[in-house]
Amino acid sequence: MKPLSDEKIIDSWKKNARQWGAAVQVGQIESREVVTNKAIVEAVLSYSPEAVADIGCGEGWLVRELARRITQVVGIDAVPGLIDQAKAAGGGDFFVASYEAIADGAIKGLFDVVVCNFSLLGEESVQALFGAMPSLLKPGGVCIVQTLHPMVACGDLPYIDGWREGSWAGFGSDFIDPAPWYFRTLENWTSLFSDNGLRLLEIREPIHPKTQKPASIIFIGATAANNAMHATSA
Ligand SMILES: C[S@@+](CC[C@H](N)C(=O)[O-])C[C@H]1O[C@@H](n2cnc3c(N)ncnc32)[C@H](O)[C@@H]1O
Repeated sequence: MKPLSDEKIIDSWKKNARQWGAAVQVGQIESREVVTNKAIVEAVLSYSPEAVADIGCGEGWLVRELARRITQVVGIDAVPGLIDQAKAAGGGDFFVASYEAIADGAIKGLFDVVVCNFSLLGEESVQALFGAMPSLLKPGGVCIVQTLHPMVACGDLPYIDGWREGSWAGFGSDFIDPAPWYFRTLENWTSLFSDNGLRLLEIREPIHPKTQKPASIIFIGATAANNAMHATSA
């Protein structure tokens, strides 16, 4: 078996792009339909943005949803097969770029909101993206991340940062070669924001109505309103 790594994540999503697009479009993931889709849309709209970038946009559902209310919405993903589906469905501008490429300056433009919906799966790739996050945001702009709640996603394993084996349990048999993912504790997630010049404004914990457990966690962090930090470090 190849070592678990950021590279393996993109490799896996390339193999499952068609299957993923079909699953999202038919609403196969119950927690999304019941809780988390609405939660992320509301979180973005609550900041009244004019320009939004959805990073790790997949087949583009969130871009399409936001574009009904927001003038400029851009979707970015490393997997060409997913971006092709997004372009075919329309509703926004879509680009192929990995987080590493974004960190190297692949995306030009400044956004009021950068949103990452269940798309921050790796270790170094996510750190690289967060390093670039302030350069993607207008002064006072916000980064909104929805992810698995660490207290729930931890399961029975030790509550320690580290790579976890992926699984397509609950998905169709045509899903193959699941992507590994990097488990982050709550402390790790909050440090990703604070270590990269983003002040954590809010943590939201959408609750699943059936289980009464968190279906996800949403972190919202902002750049300085006057970008003083970046001015002094430039
Ligand atoms: C669980 S899917 C979520 C897709 C979408 N945000 C949604 O809500 O349906 C994770 C997405 O992250 C993307 N992704 C993971 N690592 C990436 C990287 N290093 N660069 C760009 N995209 C990446 C994958 O290609 C995939 O589309």
